[in-house]
Amino acid sequence: MGALTDTFTLSTGARIPEVGFGTWQIPDGDTTYNAVRTALETGYRHIDTAHGYGNEASVGRAIRDSGVPREEIFVTSKLPAAAKTHDEAVTRMEESLANLDLGYIDLYLIHAPWPWGQHEERFDEGNLAAWEVLQEGLGDGRLKAIGVSNFDVHDLENVLTKGDVAPAVNQIQYYIGFTEPVISGFCRDHDILVEAYSPLATGDILDNAAVQAIADAHQVSLAQVALRFCLQNGVLPLPKAVGPDHIRANAALDFQLSDEEMARLNELPDAAPGHYHNATQG
Ligand SMILES: NC(=O)c1ccc[n+]([C@@H]2O[C@H](COP(=O)([O-])OP(=O)(O)OC[C@H]3O[C@@H](n4cnc5c(N)ncnc54)[C@H](OP(=O)(O)O)[C@@H]3O)[C@@H](O)[C@H]2O)c1
Repeated sequence: MGALTDTFTLSTGARIPEVGFGTWQIPDGDTTYNAVRTALETGYRHIDTAHGYGNEASVGRAIRDSGVPREEIFVTSKLPAAAKTHDEAVTRMEESLANLDLGYIDLYLIHAPWPWGQHEERFDEGNLAAWEVLQEGLGDGRLKAIGVSNFDVHDLENVLTKGDVAPAVNQIQYYIGFTEPVISGFCRDHDILVEAYSPLATGDILDNAAVQAIADAHQVSLAQVALRFCLQNGVLPLPKAVGPDHIRANAALDFQLSDEEMARLNELPDAAPGHYHNATQG
């Protein structure tokens, strides 16, 4: 476990490389293109983007130019959170497919159960309308698997009980001390793979002394411990990096945290206490 080609298995039976390369906040154009090319050259075979990141076209171009066969790369993208009607979801999904221009998307997620800024409201009907469109994409083969992101138990139950297909993935904020046990447990019980977004708390975890002590004992970086932590909890981390040294370091995860270290890390309070959490998580 720990190599970029090791995989988790989705409920669909598809294999998903166990570390994904995150691309949120990487500017479109050369910065995204170069980061994704570096990631693919380093050996990452799983790239996470979103319609809302504005960089799908650069991700797609980097993949096409990489020389790595399309079928060896797992690409995730996301339907915009605001798309809560059938027509808008169709339009946005078609845009994602065209932007990426890779023939198909391996995993397409509803980015959030609420349009950004409306966390306190429920959008059960809108999520079902969006889910129906993702199911259609699955049916015609242009989406190979479908899932959700930022969904709490209520939102998951809505889709599980009223949709025809169960989500394969729930992508949530997850890092040491912020492991969302209620949502994670529900997903485990329903064969929904949990993906850890912001596994480094968007960088806010990097000065945590307790985690650093464990990193020192293994002569690895704090970031590497934070990513191993996800893997050893059965959760798929999505580290984002622009710096080539970071991109390479996050791929070097061939070490093992002991059971005692994992227990200590699992008991730590929020390792990035100032970090932003949305209202339905936690
Ligand atoms: N579904 C959602 O709603 C959602 C929300 C947030 C994120 N995500 C996904 O999750 C991915 C990761 O989350 P995130 O973007 O919040 O960031 P993150 O991976 O938690 O942290 C990224 C930050 O850590 C730095 N870093 C990376 N590797 C490092 C290393 N080895 N040593 C030191 N610093 C390191 C990066 O620096 P440099 O960039 O300068 O190298 C960057 O500042 C996103 O890119 C996106 O794909 C999804």
